[in-house]
Amino acid sequence: MCGIVGYIGDKKAQPILLNSLGKLEYRGYDSCGIAIANNDIEVFKDLVRVKALTESLKPHDGKAGIGHTRWATHGEPSKINAHPHTDCKGKIAVVHNGTINNFLQLREMLAAEGHNIVSETDTEVIPHLIEKYYDGDFEKAVTRAVKDIDGAYTMIAMMAGEHKLIAARQESPLIIGVGDRENFLASDVPALLDYTSRVIYLEDGDIAVVTASDVKITHDGVPIEREEQKISWNIEDAQKGGYEHFMLKEIHEQPKVIRDTLTDFLSNSKPVVELAGVEGSTLENMIIIGCGTSYHAGLVGKYVIEELLDIPVRVEMADEFNYSGQASPGTQAIVITQSGETRDALKAIQRLKAKGCRVIAITNVIGSTVTRVADRVIYMRAGPEISVAASKTFTAELISLYWLALPYARVDTARLDKLVRDIRQLPVKVQQVLDNEDKIAAFAKKLAKFDNVFYIGKGVNYPVALEGALKIKEISYIHAEGYAAGELKHGPFSLLGEKTPVVAVVTRDATYEAIVTSIKEIKARRSPVFAFVGEDDDSTGDLADYVFKIPGVDPFLSPIVNSVALQLLAYFTAKERGCPIDFPRNLAKSVTVE
Ligand code: G6P
Repeated sequence: MCGIVGYIGDKKAQPILLNSLGKLEYRGYDSCGIAIANNDIEVFKDLVRVKALTESLKPHDGKAGIGHTRWATHGEPSKINAHPHTDCKGKIAVVHNGTINNFLQLREMLAAEGHNIVSETDTEVIPHLIEKYYDGDFEKAVTRAVKDIDGAYTMIAMMAGEHKLIAARQESPLIIGVGDRENFLASDVPALLDYTSRVIYLEDGDIAVVTASDVKITHDGVPIEREEQKISWNIEDAQKGGYEHFMLKEIHEQPKVIRDTLTDFLSNSKPVVELAGVEGSTLENMIIIGCGTSYHAGLVGKYVIEELLDIPVRVEMADEFNYSGQASPGTQAIVITQSGETRDALKAIQRLKAKGCRVIAITNVIGSTVTRVADRVIYMRAGPEISVAASKTFTAELISLYWLALPYARVDTARLDKLVRDIRQLPVKVQQVLDNEDKIAAFAKKLAKFDNVFYIGKGVNYPVALEGALKIKEISYIHAEGYAAGELKHGPFSLLGEKTPVVAVVTRDATYEAIVTSIKEIKARRSPVFAFVGEDDDSTGDLADYVFKIPGVDPFLSPIVNSVALQLLAYFTAKERGCPIDFPRNLAKSVTVE
């Protein structure tokens, strides 16, 4: 993982590198560092976040540099393991995002040749390899060095006396930001938004030589043109806009996100088979794959698609699928990844395609890697999501799945019309939940005192319970488990009692009576119950200790309004516990390693 940046131009590099790095902290924030070139290269790095590094540095005049914010893979977070890493003479500096599979062999070889490798990282072999192959031609040395590396080695290198940055992309994202007498490099768009909206996405295998006035890209040694694109996100999208945290801002953006995502589908609404490029064939089964929150969105999709389309749908976690998952040729696959860069999800696409499946990707990031490897892409319109814990992208993923399913719904027209009407009403219903956040904040004050909590749901709201539990454990550090309500009695009941509350998501659908029975059984074991119930549900309130009424929507769409309520519960609980909400410990938003 990690975020990498580079700058070369007519301005001082230091403030630009640090500002851009700060925008990439969602990718990792164990430590950070920059290297700046004048005649020599100077490296400033430490076991701190970008803000602290910025405050500790004296101004530097250099007009070219590279930077890194780390999510540790090889070696614990420490100053010595922080990037940039350098060669023996400190003339070559490198920042790297990814993992090098053969780094132990390379390390042994380089050590035997006299290279002094000081950190535990895999990255440090790169500057030493470049040093090994350098015979006066920096570009040739980098090109030769990457040939030795097996793995994901997206990196930027610089060398004293050379007025250029050399970048290589392999299995992690890298974007060139094109400016006027200056050029930028970054792992992701938010790092560039303050400076330029002109970008070039590099492809795997590309090597780019970037100077202040020129960008030269080669692939397999052959010069290649990559199209320049315009970014539609603006700076405000990537700022807090008066909210205390990005997460709260992003939760509050959801009515707009639903509207924007729907508008896009309404203007180019195509049925799923057309999107999949398989017109004329019938959809017989489907497999949905994702990680984390996107996996949970896939699980909601399973309930919706199975019922509306009357076909079997399998949902797999990408990492599990990648080792043993099977799929028949011709199966329609949907891979959900908001970032479009999650390594496990990308690997799943390789496996799906090898098995002859057609792959539709649902993603939030135009130009991300997934958009190049999937057969078809569906873009949600959530805008940049900065908080590590996903909120608005989960909702946008659900909207995308509903929209994929609806044209194929084998239900009567009246039901379909109602679903479409209700889906259009969702922004209003979500706003009603947001308008009542004070009540959820009051529940959070109670919940924040516990160390363990169960979340239960049933049917289409079972994945909502899983996602609610994931959200609260990610940001409040309370141990939480999501369970299918009926399954709780098969073991976890032994943990119930006054110290173990249960958050219950109750919807007026076929599961209603059963989940009410579960709540009665839980109350008999004295667990405090926080219930999120439909606005027309007057009976569950008598059973639960704390009740929040969710605006009425079709039960099929209830995962969206229920999830927004649970996001707020997680947010306010984490706030009550004084947690660093946008950047929880040990996590990163975009996991580009296995
Ligand atoms: C990481 C993040 C999760 C996210 C998951 C999948 O683990 O911390 O919040 O749900 O990756 O991300 P994706 O970009 O593939 O949806």
